[in-house]
Amino acid sequence: MNQDDFTRVDEYLVEALLDRDEVLDQALADSRAAGLPAINVAPNQGKLLMILAQMVGARRILEIGTLGGYSTIWLARALPPDGELVTLEYDPKHAEVARRNIERAGLADRVEVRVGRGVDLLPGLTGPFDFVFIDADKASNPDYFTGALALSRPGTVIVVDNVVRAGAVLKADGDPNVEGIRRMNALIAAEPRVTATAVQTVGSKGWDGFCLVRVVE
Ligand code: SAH
Ligand code: DHB
Ligand code: MG
Repeated sequence: MNQDDFTRVDEYLVEALLDRDEVLDQALADSRAAGLPAINVAPNQGKLLMILAQMVGARRILEIGTLGGYSTIWLARALPPDGELVTLEYDPKHAEVARRNIERAGLADRVEVRVGRGVDLLPGLTGPFDFVFIDADKASNPDYFTGALALSRPGTVIVVDNVVRAGAVLKADGDPNVEGIRRMNALIAAEPRVTATAVQTVGSKGWDGFCLVRVVE
């Protein structure tokens, strides 16, 4: 098993189960053309996020880390017409690309892109959110988890991307991204208001994982 196999299987799964999607393809093409890194979730992961948000009947979604709006579009598609998604992005260039992509997806009425550091923007938000996707700088994950929890209600689901990073999560050698993941896991484990798990994933985006948190009280 190697990366080529994981990529080929992802291509098969996407071909087998996902509809062709011009809007999402164009969002990635424009993101690439603007020089954004290809660190968006994979299509089958994006659809997983949409389905999870649909399963909790999300009407208000918070995303931390917009990039070009690829995961944003998947998540916003889970919303009813009067739902709303707030997405936080540090880089104004990323936010601008995302706004264009979200507009083209017909979701601009439901999505607000706020520009700034996640830790600075979170205190200005009003909860509760029904679903939160954390996918920005990994070093800040402890703050993002704490901030997301403060904006949650019982039943809110929080999903965190990139919690495995090709196994780097095992190496407690001072990498601030890895420290961020591990400190977040410790916070989650010590927090009586949530129940959580994490799963490893392989696919077109390599070897990584999602942490899934459910707020219970
Ligand atoms: N969720 C996106 C990918 C996000 S990549 C998708 O799957 O399509 C991570 C993003 O977080 C990048 O756009 C980066 O600019 C942004 N970011 C980095 N540091 C940040 C911070 N402190 N606050 C908010 N966003 C940040
Ligand atoms: C990186 C960030 C991501 O959100 C991701 O899914 C993959 C990689 C990164 O910063 O390298
Ligand atoms: Mg990610």
